[in-house]
Amino acid sequence: MQLPFAESFKIKMVETIQKSTRPEREQWIKEAKYNLFNLKSNQVFIDLLTDSGTGAMSDKQWSELMLGDESYAGASSYYKMKNAIQAILGFPYFLPTHQGRAAENVLFSVLVKEGMLVPGNSHFDTTKGHIEFRKATAIDCTIHEAFDTTVYHDFKGNVDLEKLEMVLKSNPLEKIPMIIMTITNNSAGGQPVSMQNLRDVYALAQKYGIRVVFDSARFAENAYFIKMREKGYENKSIKEIVQEMFSYADVMTMSAKKDAIVNMGGFIGFKDEELFKQASVFGIVFEGFITYGGMSGRDMNALAQGLDEGTEFDTLDSRIKQTAYLGSRLKEFGVPMQEPFGGHAIFVDVKRFLPHLPKEEFPAQTLAIELYLEAGIRAVEIGAIMADRDPITRENRFPDLELIRMAIPRRTYTNNHMDYVAVALGNVFARRNEIKRGVKIVKEAPIMRHFTVELERL
Ligand code: F0G
Repeated sequence: MQLPFAESFKIKMVETIQKSTRPEREQWIKEAKYNLFNLKSNQVFIDLLTDSGTGAMSDKQWSELMLGDESYAGASSYYKMKNAIQAILGFPYFLPTHQGRAAENVLFSVLVKEGMLVPGNSHFDTTKGHIEFRKATAIDCTIHEAFDTTVYHDFKGNVDLEKLEMVLKSNPLEKIPMIIMTITNNSAGGQPVSMQNLRDVYALAQKYGIRVVFDSARFAENAYFIKMREKGYENKSIKEIVQEMFSYADVMTMSAKKDAIVNMGGFIGFKDEELFKQASVFGIVFEGFITYGGMSGRDMNALAQGLDEGTEFDTLDSRIKQTAYLGSRLKEFGVPMQEPFGGHAIFVDVKRFLPHLPKEEFPAQTLAIELYLEAGIRAVEIGAIMADRDPITRENRFPDLELIRMAIPRRTYTNNHMDYVAVALGNVFARRNEIKRGVKIVKEAPIMRHFTVELERL
């Protein structure tokens, strides 16, 4: 008999989580103005809001905290992080930042000016936010298969090379400071980009003399999918695949809260010393001196250790198989999802889950609220609320995909928790026709409104 899959870790410390009753949740979500970001964490039983900063560090990472060097300048922790970034990712220069969006802020302060265009596969919302905040435009060149959840494609994070070349051909090149490749493509459902596509994008970029930046939050998961799905990589180690992936990038931004498995931290990696020097100026203004940039020494140590663990096959195998386990359980209940399942999360296709709700009533947010009421599970809307208004027309934008994302923290929940989530969402699916109305916006911020939006149920 073939042995079943089992995780490559055991648990050394536990944290209690709270169950609640439906009347309690009715009250709490109302007080939270139907925005799940406003809930207190003890009002949530299973928290799938994000896999960012919510993972469990290893015993080795916790040990590294004790070895942190908190010197203002030249800390050994800085050099530990520098060596890990050089050895694992191949970037000789780097700036620490307190998280991923801070890396975007520092880098884009050098590169992005009003009126510029930044093509790529789907930009994450903070990336797009930092581009639009500078009155520039993010252009999504992701392959069309990514926007149809019923189509199978091994690499739905890929860029459509023709779409991309059209942008490069039909605009003055000085208006295009970079191409951004988000690996994995979070907005399309945690979908990977193939090595072939990374190679092709880089070749195209070189032809036009444009730099390539990887938004690398989940680069290791991307490498895992390349190993499992792309011909020629099945016998390569994750670290070998990672090396090749980053050979097709000039710069990387990193939210280390994901694949480096730390609670806080990020960085920018550079191959070009001149760009590193220019960015250092903004790094110092926004984040801190070059050798700590918004991070404690102990956190830089944990990050360096996390980069090593996060690029081990067994770590990734446990993680991505857990995501797939939740997906396969939900499939039994008929729940429509983005497929193939992504690395860090299951994305539920709400247009197919609640087809009777008009888009103006924000069906994905409505479903996230229903799932919370059902079982105290917190997911996140990735739909029209997160898409914000068009910066010029101020009309609501309605993206092709209206999703809820259930992101799975690394090494945190067991498969019993996944079963609980699957049954809860299965129950909501069974009574989906009783969900007759959605929500309306009462108050919203001009940009990245989903964090603070206030809603009412219709
Ligand atoms: N890029 C990607 C692809 C991301 O997923 C995120 C964050 C960032 C950049 C920004 O990094 O949060 O460290 O400032 N994603 C989190 C998420 C918030 O829930 O997917 P950050």
